[in-house]
Amino acid sequence: LCDSIIAGSEMKTILDEAAEASSYLWENGWAERNAGNLSVDISDALSSSIILSGDERFRPLAGSYPSLAGRSYLVTGTGRRFRDLAKDAGQNSCILRMTDGGDGFNIVWGGLDNPDFNPTSEWPAHLRVHEFLRASGAPENVVLHTHPTEMIALTHMPEYKNEQTLCQALWSMHPEVKVTLPIGIGFARYMVPGTEELAMETVEAFRRGFKIVLWEMHGCVAIAGSVMSAFDLIDTANKSAKILLMCRAAGLTPQGLEKHQQDELVAAFGLKE
Ligand code: 13P
Ligand code: ZN
Repeated sequence: LCDSIIAGSEMKTILDEAAEASSYLWENGWAERNAGNLSVDISDALSSSIILSGDERFRPLAGSYPSLAGRSYLVTGTGRRFRDLAKDAGQNSCILRMTDGGDGFNIVWGGLDNPDFNPTSEWPAHLRVHEFLRASGAPENVVLHTHPTEMIALTHMPEYKNEQTLCQALWSMHPEVKVTLPIGIGFARYMVPGTEELAMETVEAFRRGFKIVLWEMHGCVAIAGSVMSAFDLIDTANKSAKILLMCRAAGLTPQGLEKHQQDELVAAFGLKE
């Protein structure tokens, strides 16, 4: 089954990018132990004959997702290490297909070494984000959650616990951040990981146009059209957080790019704020 899945070139690209990005997440120190998770809507990349031919393992869901009925996803497993995904996707991730009612799913490939294999504990949040992406006709099919150290550090500082000061700080540290994330990033106050409450708050932030939502004292979630683009967005935002903290650690309060310099970027790159 594995060979037949990756025979499709689009599926091979997705698996290759997932493996490459997972190594970067680990190397950046954002994926300690089982930290972070990934889901990709692969409905268009995977042929339906393959998805129905596996030995299926049914899992019910607490919530209902009728608009995702019948769709297929590549999802990392709960408790699995990102650094192991590159070595063996079949043990550390799975392909699952949502039931026709959208209130459960069948694992049709992956999680091979453990009959109790389950997708990430953040699957409810991923599902709500995929639901939003489908409903809004958005081009993104990738949801990536990771623990970017410097961005998390900022959320421990009272002045950055709101979107406005957070975005202003990130934009002002490096011009490419304004260019890459012209709308900024969303902020969600601390909530218990894996809860529906956190999922809804995250979707609300994406609804406001952000491509990254920062979870206070936990990590962030990015949406993109490819795994590598999702990684790139977080990498770019975290660069600013790192510069800011380095200046602070050196005893400096950086002035950063001023308003007129940011306005210049908006004009030069035709950015939609
Ligand atoms: P999982 O191992 O369940 O994916 O959880 C990792 C994580 O980062 C939870 O927020
Ligand atoms: Zn997490």
